[in-house]
Amino acid sequence: MKKLIAANWKMNVPDMRRWRSLRIPRGVEVVICPPFSFLSDVRCQMSDVKLGAQDVFWENKGAYTGEVSPAMLKNLGVKYVIIGHSERRQYLKETDEMINKKVSAALKAGLKVILCVGENLATRKRGLETAKNFVKNQLQNDLKGMTKNYKLKARSLIIAYEPVWAISTSGTGKICSPTDALEMVKFIKFILHSKFYILNSRVLYGGSVDSKNISDFVKYEDIDGALVGASSLKAEEFKKIIGVVANNANL
Ligand code: PGA
Repeated sequence: MKKLIAANWKMNVPDMRRWRSLRIPRGVEVVICPPFSFLSDVRCQMSDVKLGAQDVFWENKGAYTGEVSPAMLKNLGVKYVIIGHSERRQYLKETDEMINKKVSAALKAGLKVILCVGENLATRKRGLETAKNFVKNQLQNDLKGMTKNYKLKARSLIIAYEPVWAISTSGTGKICSPTDALEMVKFIKFILHSKFYILNSRVLYGGSVDSKNISDFVKYEDIDGALVGASSLKAEEFKKIIGVVANNANL
C-alpha cells in the first residue's frame, strides 16, 4: 500500500505560488488540507494532490450557522477530511459524541476520514499502557455504531495517532520515539480489528514530523504515513518529506 502523507495547514495562509510546482513521485499519496477558504485554490493549482478539509459538520443542511456540510465539501472536490484533531477537541470543546457524528456523516457522504486520536502529556506520564487505554476509549467512542458498514470503513477510514504532547506547537519540546509510535500504531490496528472487524485501515503518525525524522517513522511497514503540521507549511521542506518517503518506497 502507498504511504499517505497528509498536510495539515491549520489556520495559516499559504503562499500558493510556491506550491504550483509540487509534483508527487510514485509510491506516495499526498493530501493537502488547507483552511476552508483555500480549498478551491489548492484544487485548481495543485493537480497532483488530493484535496482534504480540516473539519466537517454532521448535517447536510439547515440552521447551523458557520458550519460546512459533507455535501458542500464534496462539491468543492474534497476527498478527505480530518476529524477530531486535538486542537478542535481542546479549543472548540469537541466531544467524542460530536466526533462520532461527524465521522459517520462524512463516511456516509463518501469522504475519506482522517480521524485523529492521541493522549495528552498528563496521561502519557502515567505510562504507555494508560495512554493505550485512553486511545482505545477514544476509538471506541468516536467509531461507535460503525460495525454495520465495515466494508466502507476499511477503505475510507484512516486513523492518525497524534500524541498531543508531541505536536510541534504543544510547547512541551518533546517528541515521540518512532518505536513508541510504532507500538501505538500496532495497538490501534489491533483495536480496529478486534472491536470493529476492520482490517487494512491505514494508521498514520503525527507530531513534529519533518524531513529529518520522517524516515524513522515510515520505515516501519505498519506506519502507513504521516499527518504533518508545521513542516507542511514550507513548500521546500514538504517536498523533501515527500522525496524521502518516495525513496523509502523504492528501496
Ligand atoms: P506538527 O502538527 O507536525 O506541527 O506537530 C501535526 C498536527 O497537529 O496535525
